[in-house]
Amino acid sequence: MALKNINPTTTNSWKELTNHFKDIENINIKDLSKDENRKEDFSIQFDDLLVDFSKNRITKKTIQLLVALAKEVGLKDAIESQFSGEKINVTEDRAVMHTALRSTSDVPVLVEGKNIKPQIQTALRKIKSFSNKVISGKWKGYTGKSITDIVNIGIGGSDLGPDMIVESLQFYKNQLTTHFVSNIDGDHVSEIIKKLNPETTLFVIVSKTFTTQETITNAETLKNWFLKSATIFDIPKHFVAVSSNLEAVDNFGIDKGNVFPMWDWVGGRFSLWSAVGLSISLSVGYDNYKALLEGAEEMDIHFRNEDFDKNIPVILALISIWYNNFYLAETEAVLPYSQYLKKLPDYLQQAIMESNGKGVDRNGHKVDYQTGTIVWGSTGTNMQHAFMQLVHQGTKLIPADFIGYKQSLYGLTDHHKKLMANYYGQMEALAFGKSKEEVHLELKFSGDEDKINQLLPFKVFEGNRPSNAILFDKLTPRSLGKLVAMYEHKIYTQGILWNIYSFDQFGVELGKELAKKLLKTQ
Ligand code: F6P
Repeated sequence: MALKNINPTTTNSWKELTNHFKDIENINIKDLSKDENRKEDFSIQFDDLLVDFSKNRITKKTIQLLVALAKEVGLKDAIESQFSGEKINVTEDRAVMHTALRSTSDVPVLVEGKNIKPQIQTALRKIKSFSNKVISGKWKGYTGKSITDIVNIGIGGSDLGPDMIVESLQFYKNQLTTHFVSNIDGDHVSEIIKKLNPETTLFVIVSKTFTTQETITNAETLKNWFLKSATIFDIPKHFVAVSSNLEAVDNFGIDKGNVFPMWDWVGGRFSLWSAVGLSISLSVGYDNYKALLEGAEEMDIHFRNEDFDKNIPVILALISIWYNNFYLAETEAVLPYSQYLKKLPDYLQQAIMESNGKGVDRNGHKVDYQTGTIVWGSTGTNMQHAFMQLVHQGTKLIPADFIGYKQSLYGLTDHHKKLMANYYGQMEALAFGKSKEEVHLELKFSGDEDKINQLLPFKVFEGNRPSNAILFDKLTPRSLGKLVAMYEHKIYTQGILWNIYSFDQFGVELGKELAKKLLKTQ
């Protein structure tokens, strides 16, 4: 069934939401929180994940109307269309099947009449056996030494996903050192070369198209550097590729047996679950890589089957639309309270902004409402000493996701208690602020009345700033898979509601073309 094609602003639900917004625009989270059931009513527990969305400018009616909007634009059918392999990436005439990559069910998924599950299983077996050989030291370099360093060469989805996951799962990492080269800036690759020994380095070239300027330039530079010490006959021991362009891979000189597949039904920014994640499997071992996929599958099942009002990605998408389209918030922040997740905001910027940064609807008409949100963020507590001043007291409304873990990985309880006190403290400060009266009371003992009145306005926190608390028991490969899949489904939900196509990225093409033209004239 083709995706419906409905301008959301013409729906009954949108009209009702507009009226409802007028009614509650000035509602205050502090007042809403007086309801002792609020936390329970506005939270969803799903296995080891608790999402508390009670600190938002929403009522039960807001959720009801947003859910009605999702139903009116056909979200349920759209989810089925995605999972069942329909070509919902219409502008590129492709299915969107990252969910099939992590599916453990035996139910076939047909793309153009062909079950894609067997090829996915074959690729997984190849990833497993290759990772095991390299990690165990059985895979030898050209002088007979085992591999010590992995270099992932890619950009965009062929870099950000694996890089973010390897960084996030550092705790689970094995003895191999993993490097990521992405930028065309030669200083990037040069800095990495300084750390490498050609005899013990494995290069993983990741490019779906195998034509991306940055990746091919970096790969050539690294190959030339390698060939200063070795010969072309040594390339098979040190270079592997992940790509769907077999001819270009062959021309580069990579052995056929060293090619891992990519398919056109997996978008770059959703590809870490495919062989694009080879560096992940090499870095943390196949079992951890598989657990990552299993966590994502758990979220897939939740997203596909759960009612919208209990569906985590759907609820997060709807709340974000509420701020984006009714409060006209320009940005939203992602704030992980885990140093391991420091690359998550960068990763999500591509996933969210490349997907939903579209100004034309599914009819090909320019939209007359806001679409993709601007996403940014950094880790707590560092960012509290950087940009949080603006989030607390600035003039902009910035809804924020706070991601946290009940347990720390190294068990430094004292640190973790302090970290989590900050996690909760920030959300409370944002939501409830600090009134004039409270500030006055605080200052009462510290100076004369004139001085107090002078200082008062600067020390008041208006509050009423929204946040979602996204809390897992522990950072594991499985919970990380769940988290990433949660955001993927949020993206799709929003694309459906905004009536845009989330899986193409024509917007990145023009700049590339112009750079090529300019290069020729230099
Ligand atoms: O930025 C555009 C883009 O096409 C991304 O969608 C993709 O992840 C990236 O370039 C890299 O593409 P490739 O894997 O083909 O090198």
